[in-house]
Amino acid sequence: MSAKISLEDLFQTTGGKRPYVQRLFGRIAGVYDLMNRLMSFGLDRYWRKRAARYLALGTGETGLDLGAGTADLSIAVIRNSGPGTHMIGMDITPEMLEQGRKKIARLGLEDCIELRVGDAEHIDLPDNSVDGCCSGFTARNLTDLRQGFREMLRVVRPGGRVVCLEISHPPGKIFGSLFHFYFYRLAPLFGTIIGKAFEEYNYLPHSLTHFPDAPTLKAIMEEVGWSDVRFYRLSGGMVAIHVGTRAEEK
Ligand SMILES: C[S@@+](CC[C@H](N)C(=O)[O-])C[C@H]1O[C@@H](n2cnc3c(N)ncnc32)[C@H](O)[C@@H]1O
Repeated sequence: MSAKISLEDLFQTTGGKRPYVQRLFGRIAGVYDLMNRLMSFGLDRYWRKRAARYLALGTGETGLDLGAGTADLSIAVIRNSGPGTHMIGMDITPEMLEQGRKKIARLGLEDCIELRVGDAEHIDLPDNSVDGCCSGFTARNLTDLRQGFREMLRVVRPGGRVVCLEISHPPGKIFGSLFHFYFYRLAPLFGTIIGKAFEEYNYLPHSLTHFPDAPTLKAIMEEVGWSDVRFYRLSGGMVAIHVGTRAEEK
């Protein structure tokens, strides 16, 4: 059974990729943070910190975190930005946001981070309304990646940035094979045994199969209108951070 066929079949059972993804994250919201730490050996925190630094929000600016989930990237942005920075975290899965709200309350960050239900492919915000936009491990879950990047371009003000942190395809053959073995075989096993979620932690690696590699993702971002797009490979290329700028209007 190929990954493509099995995923398409799964999406059909729920009426498409978006409702499938929403239900899936709704089911694993309670174990999501723990599984992230375990499956990445704690590296996920470092990856988000790097992404937050690339977003580089200034004092008093507002950022948007798409697919904010349990709010870890929004929190990293606030911790790596100047005073008065505000984050809006959007996600289609209320259960993930609920976990995020509890965490934000524990950390006393309610005044800095606002979480809302919302779709990254149809962002419920006016044009030019945020200073920067980021996403952490969300892009490969989108139904239409180009539409997502177009929407980000619409809501970010001219001169503002987009930062996309996502699992990627490591370029080296040996490391690539090791990563493939870990990501497709061992990680789902952890998810099944510790997270007690077989289907969910099988979907997660397979969602990478048809996701573009880092140079192709850069080309897609440029195609929809992002300027000065660069990417940084982290941890041997397991993860890539793409950074783009919305060109100033002439
Ligand atoms: C892998 S989690 C990432 C959560 C968080 N950003 C992090 O760094 O851990 C992906 C999140 O994207 C959300 N998501 C998927 N498709 C979305 C969409 N179209 N719009 C908004 N959120 C979406 C899911 O509900 C899920 O919470």
